[in-house]
Amino acid sequence: MLSTFSFPNKIVFGCGAVNSISDIVSGFSINRVLIVTDKGIVKTGLVEEVTDNLQKAGLEYALFDGVSPNPTEDNVYAGVERYRSEKCDFIIGLGGGSSLDAAKAIRLMATHDLPLAEYEAQKGGAEKMSPNMPGMIAVPTTAGTGSEVGRGAVITIKSTCLRAARPHRQAGRKTLIFGPYLIPNVAVVDPELTIGLPKTLTAYTGMDALTHSLESYLSTQYHPICDAIAIKGVQIAGAYLKRAVENGKDIEARTNMMMAAMMGAIAFQKDLGVAHSLAHPLSTIAGIHHGLANAIVLPHTMEFNFEHAKEQLRDIAGALGVNISGMSLDDAAQAAIVQIKQLEKEIGIPERLRDVGVSADMIPELAEQAMEDGCHLTNPRKCSKEDMVYLYNKSL
Ligand SMILES: [Fe+2]
Repeated sequence: MLSTFSFPNKIVFGCGAVNSISDIVSGFSINRVLIVTDKGIVKTGLVEEVTDNLQKAGLEYALFDGVSPNPTEDNVYAGVERYRSEKCDFIIGLGGGSSLDAAKAIRLMATHDLPLAEYEAQKGGAEKMSPNMPGMIAVPTTAGTGSEVGRGAVITIKSTCLRAARPHRQAGRKTLIFGPYLIPNVAVVDPELTIGLPKTLTAYTGMDALTHSLESYLSTQYHPICDAIAIKGVQIAGAYLKRAVENGKDIEARTNMMMAAMMGAIAFQKDLGVAHSLAHPLSTIAGIHHGLANAIVLPHTMEFNFEHAKEQLRDIAGALGVNISGMSLDDAAQAAIVQIKQLEKEIGIPERLRDVGVSADMIPELAEQAMEDGCHLTNPRKCSKEDMVYLYNKSL
């Protein structure tokens, strides 16, 4: 059964939701749609799920499948080029967080003149954005970033000054492009689109969703509305992630993980914490999947935060199913860390960064970029560069 509701944008949620696209697009004045996705999604045949609906609505479309796993500003400019040359006036983002984030940035750059880097959150990008952007539908094919309900897009920007200083470096810097107008007009969230997702990606993306809720709950920002969503997001992800990994066809688990991903993304309006600051450079420098990077560092960041967030960690233990009644605060908070470690073990997350190709000589550069990342600014314990080095070493 489909549910349609608005929070924060319009969401059409449930098995078969993808078939509502023909009705949704009929509500917009559209001539031609650009579908933004990646080559992996094209191979799965999921693009046809969308194009069949566009044909049903009598709409023409063009395809841009040039989104990288960690989308770059070059991807965005190539997508804008395609949008213009194909004379499109609407965008459908189809895929994981990468495709949805790239679609949002293409939407922005289709009508805005400054270089993409000028719209970074840290540069006050939101103030420079106007609502004059093409309409957009987001169709997620993973349960992870929740980008379909988010106002941000994480894009890797070329770091020309850093590259000049270190010619070996090709990675660039992950940055958040953020603004309220970037939120898709409609999110079409269909758990059936995630059924074919492999176990590893189900685990990685699911841990990203869980980390969003967990870190938001620990964030120092005052936002009780997000706290309520975050703790429920932890509960749902904690209850269903293992099931979704063990049996990809478990539609109840897939459905709940889709909801947990959206809840994590809504919760992190309250901002995140040091795990995300550690994870972002692990993707750009070491090429590690974002969710996997979060998963490996998360237990260490919880230990790092222990003295500064005991009550929140106790609540998280409760949300993860630990019977905390009668336990001391310290024991209950510690139980949250034990639960996360246990879950990660059960879903096959490697324990250490060295298991996924990170070496000690990368740590100085990782730590430098982690400090530049804004997520740790709302971490319950203030982070220095030495702390970043310590946390990478603990996770190594
Ligand atoms: Fe994330």
